[in-house]
Amino acid sequence: MSLRFDLLPPTIAEAHQHFEAWVSAAQDVNDINRLKGVFIGRKASHLTLLTDLLKQTPKESKADLGALINHLKMTWETALSLRLEQLVSASASSSVDLTLTPPVLPQGAVHPIQRLEVHIVSVFRTLGYHVEEGPEVETEEHNFDGLNIAPNHPARRSSDTFYFEAHPHLLLRTHTSPVQVRVLKRLSQKNSQGVSLLESLGGIRFLSPGRVYRKDEIDPTHSPMFHQVEGMLIGKNIGLQHLKGTLSYAMKALLGADTEVRFRPGYFPFVEPGCEVDVKCPLCKGQGCRVCKSSGWIEILGAGLVHPHVLSHAGIDSTAWSGFAFGMGIERIAMIISECPDLRLFFENDLRFLQSMREVR
Ligand code: PHE
Repeated sequence: MSLRFDLLPPTIAEAHQHFEAWVSAAQDVNDINRLKGVFIGRKASHLTLLTDLLKQTPKESKADLGALINHLKMTWETALSLRLEQLVSASASSSVDLTLTPPVLPQGAVHPIQRLEVHIVSVFRTLGYHVEEGPEVETEEHNFDGLNIAPNHPARRSSDTFYFEAHPHLLLRTHTSPVQVRVLKRLSQKNSQGVSLLESLGGIRFLSPGRVYRKDEIDPTHSPMFHQVEGMLIGKNIGLQHLKGTLSYAMKALLGADTEVRFRPGYFPFVEPGCEVDVKCPLCKGQGCRVCKSSGWIEILGAGLVHPHVLSHAGIDSTAWSGFAFGMGIERIAMIISECPDLRLFFENDLRFLQSMREVR
C-alpha cells in the first residue's frame, strides 16, 4: 500500500520536506527538543494537528490518513532520537579522555606538633594519666603566685610576659604549670562530710598539653608561642624515685628503648628539689653532634617534687600529700626527633616541610 502524501495539509507537507535537513542541523539537546515540540509535541504540533484532522476526515480516506500519520510519527520519532544519541556521544567523547591518568588529590594530615602531642599523651595514658585543660588567658595568681613564684621574679616582667592592658592581672600563660594550681584547687574542695575530692580519689595523675606564650624574639629556637605538656602526680609518700621511674619509662617509650636518661639538679620555684632531665642524644648516641652541641646530651624537661607552698596555696595539706610535676616543650622534642634545626618551620606551614615530616615517626 502506497502512502497518500497528497492528504497532508500543505504547511505540514512543506515542514516534512525540510525535516531531515533540520534534524541534521540540530547541534544540541535544545535544538532537538525544539524540533520535537514542533513535530511530535503534545500541544499544537504537526502530529496533534494531524490527529485532529483525522477526526474530521470522511470515512473513505480515514484509513489512508491514519497509515500516513503512523508513518510520519515513526519517522519523526526515530530520526530525532537517533540524532540526539549522536549529539550526546559526540559531546562525551570530546570532553572526556578516558586514557588520561586521574589527578592525585592532595591528602591532609595531622600537624607534626599535634601528632607528637597525641603520642606523648598516649604514652602517659598507659600509666593511668588523664588530660586536664586550662585556659590560655590566665590570672597572675594561677600563672605565678600559686606556683610560689616571687613577686619580683624576672619571669613576671612585662618584657617577658604578655599582659592585657585593660586587665593588668590577666596574661597569656607563660607555661602549662597554672593547670597544676587549677586542678589542685579543685581537688581541695570538700563535700558535705568534710572529705576533700583529693581524699576521696586517693590521689591524682594528669597531663596537660597546650599553647604557651612568651615575649621572645622569633629565631631558630624561639617563638612567642609554643607548646608544652605539663604532668603532675599527687599521692602519699611520693618521692624522687617515683619521678625518676616515671620519666625514665616515658622517655624510652617516646624516644626509643635504648634512650638513656640523666637527672641534674635544677631550680624552679614550684618544685623542691627540682631537676633538669637530659636524654642521651638520640641522633649521635652521645658521640656529640650539631643537635646536642657536641655534649652528647639534650635537656628535655624540667621536673621536681611539688613544693609544699604550691599544695598549701591550693588548700591541700602538704604534710599529708606529696607529688611530682614535670614540664616539657613539644617543639623541642619534635626538633630533636626530626633533626629539624629551625623551630619556625613548624609554624610556617610550608606543605613541603609538612610532607617531609609525615615520614618521621
Ligand atoms: N614550667 C616549667 C617551664 O616552663 C617546667 C616545669 C614544669 C618545671 C613542672 C618543673 C615542674 O620551664
